Amino acid sequence: MEDVLTGFDLTVGSGDAGISLHHPVIASPMAGVFDPPYRRILHDLGIELSYTEMISSRGIYEGSGKTEEIAGWIPEIGCSAAQIFGSEPVYLSHAAKEMERMGHHMIDINAGCPKRKVLVQGSGGALIRTPERLLACLGAVLDSVRIPVSIKIRSGYHTFEKGPFLDLVKDISSIGVSCIALHPRTVAQGFRGSAERGLIDEVSSLVDVPVIASGDVRERSDVVDYLRRGARAVMVGRALMGDPLRVKRLINGGTHDPLSTVEGIREHLKRAREHLVHSVNHYGERRGCVRFRSHLGWYTARFPGRKRIRDRIFHVSSTDETMDLIDNIEREWTSIPSTGNIKYSR
Ligand SMILES: Cc1cc2nc3c(=O)[nH]c(=O)nc-3n(C[C@H](O)[C@H](O)[C@H](O)COP(=O)(O)O)c2cc1C
Repeated sequence: MEDVLTGFDLTVGSGDAGISLHHPVIASPMAGVFDPPYRRILHDLGIELSYTEMISSRGIYEGSGKTEEIAGWIPEIGCSAAQIFGSEPVYLSHAAKEMERMGHHMIDINAGCPKRKVLVQGSGGALIRTPERLLACLGAVLDSVRIPVSIKIRSGYHTFEKGPFLDLVKDISSIGVSCIALHPRTVAQGFRGSAERGLIDEVSSLVDVPVIASGDVRERSDVVDYLRRGARAVMVGRALMGDPLRVKRLINGGTHDPLSTVEGIREHLKRAREHLVHSVNHYGERRGCVRFRSHLGWYTARFPGRKRIRDRIFHVSSTDETMDLIDNIEREWTSIPSTGNIKYSR
């Protein structure tokens, strides 16, 4: 079953700017979720390459104060791809240079975001409807930096149209990108239905650059399935929300659910505490705690007493208060006698 993982090795890009990966699991760009503090936790657990949340190229061009907060990264933690969005080559080119200067290892262009406020600017998923603009944007970024450049696309805008889509992918691959990430759902589909995995087979056999598959990866078997279809790596998004230990399972295999044992729950909440500390260091005390609230909601999604503590989670505003709450959760969660064998469903 794991033949495709034996001796896994992948280099994205070339020369001294190439990124070497020793396993195929990459953390997706996830706006509002995979921020620098959480990405740090994922890297501690073995992730080698993670993406920033999508960042407005225009915002970077205009010197928005948010850039440092979203894109601030310590390169020693691991490889970081800065994902930028926009539809103006001049903004994208400037943003790419700035991200390279900040120490990111790769630039990714978002050509898949289905959010209305992004689409109305002709950016994100809207770029798929304007192939010439998309290629002009990519060309401008490729000319601006020496680190690898990639693109993350969906399988179409309203509907999947095989001919035009495959033509676009061919054009993208021949322009000089180092890899293509494909989330095989259309923009209009949002996150509904399932990812169309068969499209990974087609695209992988069509292009020479590595294809990274995104969509519905939850277990190691999903990783193996995508690699067998020709993907060279996979991205994981929603399955890692509030569940960083899943990284170990995705990378090393096994089916053990850590939250089915007391030790596992302790390890899970230990990561939550570390995450809180990173969050406070990154955003400051109050904002760090406020930003951490949603994460704590995800960390405790399977805690049987969750409904009771929901209100408390969404009111914590200091480190002490949040640590106390996590301590209480741990005491209660680990004292449930039957925890050992129960698999709580999400
Ligand atoms: C809350 C949320 C935020 C996301 N933010 C981004 C983003 O900033 N850039 C991007 O390219 N994709 C974004 N995505 C899409 C994911 O990267 C991924 O392609 C998609 O969720 C499918 O993968 P999954 O099933 O592993 O979650 C986001 C998805 C979600 C649910």
